[in-house]
Amino acid sequence: MNTITQSETDYSKLPDLAANVFTAPLKKPAHVGDDWLEPAQHVYVAEENAIWDDLFARQMEILPGRAASAFMAGLDKLDLGRGGVPEFGKMSEELSALTGWSVVPVPMLIPDHVFFWHLANRRFPAGNFIRSRETFDYIQEPDVFHDVFGHVPMLTDPVFADYMQEYGRAGWKAMRYNRLKALGSLYWYTVEFGLIQEASGDIRAYGAGILSGPMEVVFATEARSPNRIMLNVDRVMRTDYVISDLQPTYFVIESFADLYHQTVERDFDRLYRNLSPSFTYAHSAVIDVDDVLHRGTQEYLLRGGRGSGAEPV
Ligand SMILES: [Fe+2]
Repeated sequence: MNTITQSETDYSKLPDLAANVFTAPLKKPAHVGDDWLEPAQHVYVAEENAIWDDLFARQMEILPGRAASAFMAGLDKLDLGRGGVPEFGKMSEELSALTGWSVVPVPMLIPDHVFFWHLANRRFPAGNFIRSRETFDYIQEPDVFHDVFGHVPMLTDPVFADYMQEYGRAGWKAMRYNRLKALGSLYWYTVEFGLIQEASGDIRAYGAGILSGPMEVVFATEARSPNRIMLNVDRVMRTDYVISDLQPTYFVIESFADLYHQTVERDFDRLYRNLSPSFTYAHSAVIDVDDVLHRGTQEYLLRGGRGSGAEPV
């Protein structure tokens, strides 16, 4: 069995990875250390701050009534619309007073074990750059708008904040079992593309991948194409997903406390021993055990998805 040589419960320093633990080969820029942190946040010029403001205004047209109440409350608590890209130091002070989290600048995608280490220590690594006007509608690599606007408001929710820390802790275990793909799927279907059924019965979005762009907010919560299925952690960790298009399936939680307990109380050692290295279920599948809220028509996917001219209905 693979091992991480450091104790799984000491999160104070980075783990020494055993040679047989796979990590994506990312080339570390010369100016960052082993923690991959930028020495300082980028200084944004007026046009970059204007891009933030325009992205912010566009989302605020769409999110009320579709974004989770906890997300909208978080935007408000941190006053992320005060103008321009938020300054990480000040934002971290305010966030830390609420839930003990801070936001730290990184140059790009960072290695998994470093990402998990920051989360386990309640630090959220956020992209330092902001997209250009040319890539205003869609960028593949997460920028500061996706990372801060999309992710940080949810870190003001005490239960979700604890879930994110537990996710970081769970990461090293997944690496030891070589089951990062399964744990990554859980992140994808919760932190990035999660939906919640609020007390009113409304389906709202809390995932950053949905909330940081204009199209998927409406598609995820209202369209007839995608499946909406109540979240079951075991099932989700066996399910494939789409990286660069709208999701064929969304998983819905009943509360952040339910998400936290389903994850933290799960025996991941047992689960990883029983999981195959590849996914069992297709991203559009509905299976016998599913508690289905809406069985999608999959029209958008069947007509070819992104680039085909298919309407996201
Ligand atoms: Fe993200």
